[in-house]
Amino acid sequence: MRAQIQKAPQILEFLKKKSVGMQHCKTTSSVCVLDSKDAVQVAPCGHSLNSIPGPTNWPLVGSLVELLRKGGLKRQHEALIDYHKKYGKIFRMKLGSFESVHIGAPCLLEALYRKESTYPQRLEIKPWKAYRDLRNEAYGLLIMEGEDWQRVRSAFQHKLMKPTEVMKLDGKINQVLADFVQRIGRVSDNGRIKDLYFELNKWSFETISLVLYDKRFGLLHQDANEEAINFITAVKTMMNTFGKMMVTPVELHKSLNTKTWQDHTAAWDHIFSTAKLYIDKRLKRKMTKSTDDFLCDIYRHSNLSKKELYAATTELQIGGVETTANSMLWAIFNLSRNPCAQAKLLHEIREVIPVNQAPSAEHIKRMPYLKACLKESMRLSPSVPFTSRTLDKETVLGDYVLPKGTVLMINSHALGANEEYFDDGKKFKPERWLQRNNTINPFAHVPFGIGKRMCIGRRLAELELQLALCWVIREFEIVATDHEPVEAIHSGMLVPSRELPVAFIRR
Ligand code: HEM
Repeated sequence: MRAQIQKAPQILEFLKKKSVGMQHCKTTSSVCVLDSKDAVQVAPCGHSLNSIPGPTNWPLVGSLVELLRKGGLKRQHEALIDYHKKYGKIFRMKLGSFESVHIGAPCLLEALYRKESTYPQRLEIKPWKAYRDLRNEAYGLLIMEGEDWQRVRSAFQHKLMKPTEVMKLDGKINQVLADFVQRIGRVSDNGRIKDLYFELNKWSFETISLVLYDKRFGLLHQDANEEAINFITAVKTMMNTFGKMMVTPVELHKSLNTKTWQDHTAAWDHIFSTAKLYIDKRLKRKMTKSTDDFLCDIYRHSNLSKKELYAATTELQIGGVETTANSMLWAIFNLSRNPCAQAKLLHEIREVIPVNQAPSAEHIKRMPYLKACLKESMRLSPSVPFTSRTLDKETVLGDYVLPKGTVLMINSHALGANEEYFDDGKKFKPERWLQRNNTINPFAHVPFGIGKRMCIGRRLAELELQLALCWVIREFEIVATDHEPVEAIHSGMLVPSRELPVAFIRR
């Protein structure tokens, strides 16, 4: 619990200020008055799951047809905003046989946080588990449960969540950024970059690899080697194939040996063999020396088996690539649409970082506007628009008693878009985070999730993004070149439907 408190100082501060209670048969707190559309009137208190409002639940299909009419799974983030507008802070939806309860209000997130169990669970990623079981490999943090999850999480927590530890990584992050900025100059055509998203994925892949394996793959160099391309392709294939097996039974794919299953397995084989190779090399090289080293320190000071180290490290790498690249993509997009904010950011960069110096973690401490820009971008365009929890005990949320096993969807995108929590919510206004008496509820902004199971790479990702913005904005003016792309959901991430219409003009 102490570790949890350390990693959520903002939330802790908020809780200290408020003495909100969450008791059975009472509304959650003064900050959580569910309005009439949130709660049925008839039952006196402790309403059941069945009384939660939601879109029509047709036999067999549930609300699937209605969702398809609203643009399908790709546009589900918009449908979720609509449903929250229509049904309130909490609603229930069934898609085929999959039923979930959606929450989109800070008070309900706060209630969930306060009632969190010892080992919170997310929705299972069955295809990943099926592969590990097949090859007798361990699970990593993204799919582990119970005491094992907590043991592995604690092994990585110190290095990844303690600010002073993460700050030490700025040198490595900068090494990759120097190459990235050079590459932007090299590959741009009149300031336009073909497949900017892929370029950003290479940057984040290269950064997390350097942190974890102390290895440069050379993806940002003119002729990246085959090994690097094969590794990143395997990660892409694995990500592209698991979605299908989340909506159709993985057991069926496995028994029919479908192409999806074959590609998924082959991709994981490649990922695991490469990761093992580099982890082993690194341990061998560094274990004898007592120098400060990310992976060796973790292995030395924990009781992780080699197998667990392989699996957990591999999942850190997977968790840290597309999410970070995607957040940078949206930050670039939002700044290109807001030249005043960009100019203000440039001013701060020039004021804090001397011209001939690389930005450092120490500089970042004195850059509130930079942090506000990133926060605002992640509010408007969170790369992970929702996360989930599977309740492992009966839980009261708002006026409802939710049984064990209920799947909760935490809709961070809908929260960030809600005018009730963010005035002028459609506008990119970093200043909102800097106002002295800002009344923004910390539970209204949860791009990294909440509680004990929140993103373990949060601090690293924030530092990577903050330093990246310093490098990029210092070197280039980012300008809008065309009208906006549509946002779409792909593999659980918020992506632009086409190439971002931005150009990088050298200053
Ligand atoms: C801007 C970048 C990132 C975003 C937006 C992001 C977002 C998230 C979210 C929403 C979750 C689920 C949290 C929850 O269920 O409450 C998560 C979990 C996780 N993330 Fe990240 N993430 C980012 C970067 C990273 C990085 C850099 C790493 C690796 C160093 C990483 C590794 C993980 C892992 C391992 C988990 C599972 C944690 C657990 O269950 O204990 N993420 N992330």
